[in-house]
Amino acid sequence: MASTVSSSSTPITLPNSSIQTSFLPKTSQLSIFKKKKPFNFVSKKLVSCKASNGDQNNELSSSSNRFDRRDVLLGLGGLYGATNLVSDPFAVAAPVAAPDLDLCERSTVTSKSAGTIKVACCPPKLKDAIDFKPPSFSKIRYRPAAHLVDRHYLDKFTRAMELMKGLPEDDPRNFMQQANVHCAYCNGAYDNSALGIPNQELQVHFSWLFFPFHRLYLYFYERILGKLIDDPDFAMPFWNWDSPDGMLIPEIYVDPNSPLYDEKRNVNHQPPNMVDLDFAGEEEELSKSDLIKSNLSLMYRQMVRNRTATLFHGFAYRAGDKPSPGQGAIENNPHTAIHRWVGDQRQPYKEDMGNFYSAGRDPLFYAHHSNIDRLWNIWKSLPGKKRCDFPDTDWLDSSFLFYDENADLVRVKVRDALETTTLGYDYQRVDLPWLRYKPTPRRPGQGRGRHGHSHDHDHGRAVAAETNNAAIIRNVYPVVLDKVVRIEVPRPKKYRTRLEKEEEEEVLVFQNIQLNRDVAVKFDVYINDEDDETPTRPEDSEFAGSFTNLPHNNHHPGVKLDTNMTLPISDLLEDLDVEGDENIVVTLVPKEGKGLVSIGNIKIDYIRD
Ligand code: C2O
Repeated sequence: MASTVSSSSTPITLPNSSIQTSFLPKTSQLSIFKKKKPFNFVSKKLVSCKASNGDQNNELSSSSNRFDRRDVLLGLGGLYGATNLVSDPFAVAAPVAAPDLDLCERSTVTSKSAGTIKVACCPPKLKDAIDFKPPSFSKIRYRPAAHLVDRHYLDKFTRAMELMKGLPEDDPRNFMQQANVHCAYCNGAYDNSALGIPNQELQVHFSWLFFPFHRLYLYFYERILGKLIDDPDFAMPFWNWDSPDGMLIPEIYVDPNSPLYDEKRNVNHQPPNMVDLDFAGEEEELSKSDLIKSNLSLMYRQMVRNRTATLFHGFAYRAGDKPSPGQGAIENNPHTAIHRWVGDQRQPYKEDMGNFYSAGRDPLFYAHHSNIDRLWNIWKSLPGKKRCDFPDTDWLDSSFLFYDENADLVRVKVRDALETTTLGYDYQRVDLPWLRYKPTPRRPGQGRGRHGHSHDHDHGRAVAAETNNAAIIRNVYPVVLDKVVRIEVPRPKKYRTRLEKEEEEEVLVFQNIQLNRDVAVKFDVYINDEDDETPTRPEDSEFAGSFTNLPHNNHHPGVKLDTNMTLPISDLLEDLDVEGDENIVVTLVPKEGKGLVSIGNIKIDYIRD
């Protein structure tokens, strides 16, 4: 069994032949798809996720998990076991309920420069909701990579999009209505204050609802498209930005005469310009090969190192909780970076992709999220026994409302979203090049020859210099990120047994990260980053991760976003060979939104799920 768990120090190893073949590089993706014989990306795991996937009766596991996560949120410390003996104050089941459409109100969109607007994005209330039933289908449909589709597919997709855009405005299946689904769930249209819970609004980002909400949203979008062209097997494309060939806006989306086009996109980011998965609002002068390396290393870090449910999905969010407890790895990065990179800087609210309220108005949004959805499948299929969805019934029973292809209003639960194959679809199998891009430690004093950065420009050097000059501080919370900040953080356990290392992940916990919701923010976190005149990049082991915010707002625009973040550091500390150290030095570098963020506390903890 030991060989099935990826060792933390070596690049991920693929333990048995059945898994290995599914990762083998493609022969020719194009021909594969054109022959209509897409590979079946079988998410076969050697270690099964016992409690997950629809087990309704896992009370024990559910309540203990719940307590562990509360510990992180409440800052009670990371010692598990004893706390579980105390009667659990959170034992009452509290899945987030589907919104009441009658209580939907217009969304507030704000920005400092453009002021406030109100946007009507509530869905029409046509009928009462019925419970979702998993579809029956005769064969799995495969979502293709958008840059690999053929003419025939494009014609079909284009026709479906035309029909969707041509539906009557008040038809909930109309394209604009579909875009508004995102606006309502993401920009505070569903306020629960009316239900007697003050300041409680429904927000599907910044929590464990992120993956299942978007999966179901896209599922219905795809079903509607299929229905419109009378092809129930129609599968929408995904934007394969985690692979070099897919790192530009797919060509099918850039023809101004196509219904896939959106003019509110950054004009500087059209093909052949490549997406920067680490984008922070400003162009970086990287060569094409450096950018690919940076992107793939970032993907490795986010996919391989975030190997527990909380790290990957995000923090628990239950009925009655304050919204936005904390994003998971992929939501934080690269999800937000790509929204920012596509959004049009000239627009008052960075429409369309650059603001949650308008993101769904760009057809590219759905291809972007299709890839996010695909990464959820891939994450679960990678070796590692903690790569399981939450067994927690509060998660599994959280529900949403969507209009389906027949314009029926359906109530769907998270438990309906766990496997794409029960929803009738899967993804075209393509290479996962980032599996081979494990970050490596920087070599101070040797400049950046190893990485071959030929375009280190002044800005990068200035940041590096500022990093070097920042004094190391301790216990000075809350800390405002108006400059580079270096903080020494103590490690509660200097030595961990083999078993502890296998069972728990050492994490850096950021508590009460506060900012206005309507500003774009990115700050980077480096660990034990030594003096060097070149900026730290995702290919460096020292780069632990980033916090990001995509401008949005909520029902109570005055209330700041108050959220948390956990970054895995077990592998990183091993890479840097500092596992026996008592402290680590955490460097926080504001990349966008300087001075707009404060952090309530930073500490090290150990999490198991
Ligand atoms: Cu709901 Cu990418 O956002």
